[in-house]
Amino acid sequence: MTERCDLLITNVHAATMDPSIAGAYGAVEDAAVAVTGGKIVWLGPRRELPDCAADKTLDGEGQWLTPGLIDCHTHLVYGGHRASEFARRLGGESYEEVARSGGGILSTVRATRAASAEQLYRAAEPRLQALMSEGVTTLEVKSGYGLDLDTELKQLRTARRLAQHYPVEITTTCLAAHALPPEYDGRPDEYIDLVCEQILPAVAKEQLADAVDMFCESIAFSVEQCQRVIDCAKKLDLPVKVHAEQLARTGATAMAARASALSVDHIEYITDADVAAMAESGTVAVLLPGAFYTLRETQMPPVEKLRASGVSMALSTDLNPGSCPIASLRLMMNMGCNLFGLTPAEALAGVTRSAARALGLCCSRGALRPGLRADMVLWPMETPDQLAYEVGALKPAQIFFAGKTVGGRDVTAG
Ligand code: NIG
Ligand code: FE
Repeated sequence: MTERCDLLITNVHAATMDPSIAGAYGAVEDAAVAVTGGKIVWLGPRRELPDCAADKTLDGEGQWLTPGLIDCHTHLVYGGHRASEFARRLGGESYEEVARSGGGILSTVRATRAASAEQLYRAAEPRLQALMSEGVTTLEVKSGYGLDLDTELKQLRTARRLAQHYPVEITTTCLAAHALPPEYDGRPDEYIDLVCEQILPAVAKEQLADAVDMFCESIAFSVEQCQRVIDCAKKLDLPVKVHAEQLARTGATAMAARASALSVDHIEYITDADVAAMAESGTVAVLLPGAFYTLRETQMPPVEKLRASGVSMALSTDLNPGSCPIASLRLMMNMGCNLFGLTPAEALAGVTRSAARALGLCCSRGALRPGLRADMVLWPMETPDQLAYEVGALKPAQIFFAGKTVGGRDVTAG
């Protein structure tokens, strides 16, 4: 380490989430962390800290430092809301029935098409602020409520604009293959032509997407249609993600694994062979307990098998107006444990290290390690197990994005 640094944090315990450090959280107790130029430059036991003059210092008061949280699957930019469908579903209608009657995703498509870019931006802000207040420093935002060229671009540009105005990293994913728009009723293959020939090339040209996603389900697109979208994404050099086997087994996960997809998301209905294919391809399992909970599903993702096969499991909000209008990644950590059987350490890995992998940011985000951007959260807790266990009262003491304080109370000195 250089003899001077921008920020030196001492009297802190670090849940590094670095797999090369033994123990569930890669914990370094009584640690010191030095930051320069927005990056971690030194991390280790305080007694081993070399001499260093710091511009600013922070006494961690024995609290815990974690990596900034990563929400790797959101549909955060959309118009309107679907409170009336919530009531219909409580009355007994299923998510599919609501969708097939013209509601569901298509109802949000109507509202998103009708919204101005400014309205979309203003509607997204409180959702983003809610995630950031919990320590989220990186999140993904998908399009998919436009289903036409102009509105898909409008959604993705809105996501990019949010990232310019807030101290947070936003990766964007084009989900044009989310549902069949009404103007293509009965002509799904022609809509896929539009996605492949116009929407994705335009999105790629403007560099508006970091990945391409699709909804492979009987109420959306078939495996064959999704394969076409994957082929097109590959030609544009964009990695893929797939909304897979949420409502039924379709073969989407096997297809995604063959394509070396970054992630398959939902995956309640996958088989043993699908798990083996994911392990082989290194595809991350993104678990979305908030959607499972909201839709009152009963089919659980095979967590035990994923664990045994060494598949990385990420956890995310799926924040969207239909299946999960819940802007709390911390609540998802709790649900991941209570509903799906993750351990608290797996839940934290799911919103740090594994979420980074699901976004193709493996090894550059999601851990506390020299060389990585200093996205960090200081928590007033005695053990990192509290993060998944407590909901509501345990708030970040201080949040850092690229080494700068962006949330909580700034108690750095100097
Ligand atoms: O991830 N499954 C498809 N897409 C979203 C739901 C979108 C919606 O209902 O508006 C999901 O659950
Ligand atoms: Fe989703």
